[in-house]
Amino acid sequence: MTRADLIIYNIGQLVTFKEGPQPARALRDPRNAGIIENAGIAIRGERVIDVGSTSRILTEYEAEARINADGRLVTPGLVDSHTHLIFAGSREDEFEMKLQGYSYSEILARGGGIYRTVRATRQASVQELRRLLLERLLLMVRHGTTVVEVKTGYGLLPEYEVKMLNALEGLDSPGLPKIIPTLLAHVIPQEYKNRRQEYINLFIKEIIPRSLAAKVKPLYIDVFCDKGAFNIEETRRILEAGMGHGLRVRLHAEELAYIGCSDLAGEFQIDSIDHLEYLPAKNIELLVAKRTVANLLPTSMLSIFSEKKPPVNELREKGAIIAVSTDYNPNNMNPVLATTMDIATYLLGLTPLEALAAATINAAWSLRIDNVHGRIVPGAAADIVVWDVPSYKWIGYEWGHDKTLVVVARGAMVKNELGGTC
Ligand code: NIG
Ligand code: FE
Repeated sequence: MTRADLIIYNIGQLVTFKEGPQPARALRDPRNAGIIENAGIAIRGERVIDVGSTSRILTEYEAEARINADGRLVTPGLVDSHTHLIFAGSREDEFEMKLQGYSYSEILARGGGIYRTVRATRQASVQELRRLLLERLLLMVRHGTTVVEVKTGYGLLPEYEVKMLNALEGLDSPGLPKIIPTLLAHVIPQEYKNRRQEYINLFIKEIIPRSLAAKVKPLYIDVFCDKGAFNIEETRRILEAGMGHGLRVRLHAEELAYIGCSDLAGEFQIDSIDHLEYLPAKNIELLVAKRTVANLLPTSMLSIFSEKKPPVNELREKGAIIAVSTDYNPNNMNPVLATTMDIATYLLGLTPLEALAAATINAAWSLRIDNVHGRIVPGAAADIVVWDVPSYKWIGYEWGHDKTLVVVARGAMVKNELGGTC
């Protein structure tokens, strides 16, 4: 017998995604999701060491901690590949304004929205930001999210952007979601209102280099390329500078209008383009050819009361890799990616299996961490969720409550409502 730290057995349906990222179209054949019936998993330390039939795992491994999944669904931990998790303050009164008919863009143009959060975030201490962040991370992980991408972008000036990155220090530990930090060029600060070029220069010459000297360094550069934020030329300059410093690229694009941002997929290797409500058909093939993820944010659509939807059918038919993420931010306060998956079935028409791939393996691919996260294979991080349903077909079908029973994040037991010998 080989020693393990934890065995999960009697898994009714284990979705491993061992074949890696999947275009939505490929999931019409569920075999591409690497599904094992009556499965078992052996875990040692932070890693999965074996995956197979319950009988083989129980014969070959011994562990003091054993969980009987009793016929339930088990999936990789969820990967939230687009969030704005570090901020202070809140904007609940803007929610009421939106209900009265003010648009997201109008509120921003009047100095509210992002600018309001910038004021609150600049005032907060690094300790306060870290405390708020930790609260949100704990909430997320208890609901099954084991990796989270976190953007800056509420500091806007060098010292505050660095403060946001410093707030991430000390939070990299098993039992918390793994953080992937991104430096975000969000909007032109009010101080630079009529000096756009000066701000772009500041971003390139100061903010990018200083971010790379912060306590936690960004892995990605992102730009909010849209009407009311950065235009395509400005975005191009910022992305080139970020890439020059070794940062990978993701992009906010085509949320409020099409101004040409997704065309940049042809010029750069962009790992993920996010929002995409106004994505023109001509650019879908570009995303497919570059394996750029179409990262869709359904609760963001709700939060700006947008009726415009991304072209999901065309993305699916042409073979795009689709992710979904929460876009958690003070304008869109849904921290639960599992809920986003459920809503993605209704609002975007994703099938349950497409929604699951979109929130696990495809999201991990969008962050280039798919070898370790988003799939359950030997050697991968032990990020695992046991759900209180028998199969993936219940995603979307049953929703509105927390269906997670067990959450393991990098081998650490975060939640166990099933008991067993732990
Ligand atoms: O992804 N679109 C730009 N940024 C965020 C919203 C940020 C905010 O409103 O504070 C988004 O939706
Ligand atoms: Fe965003």
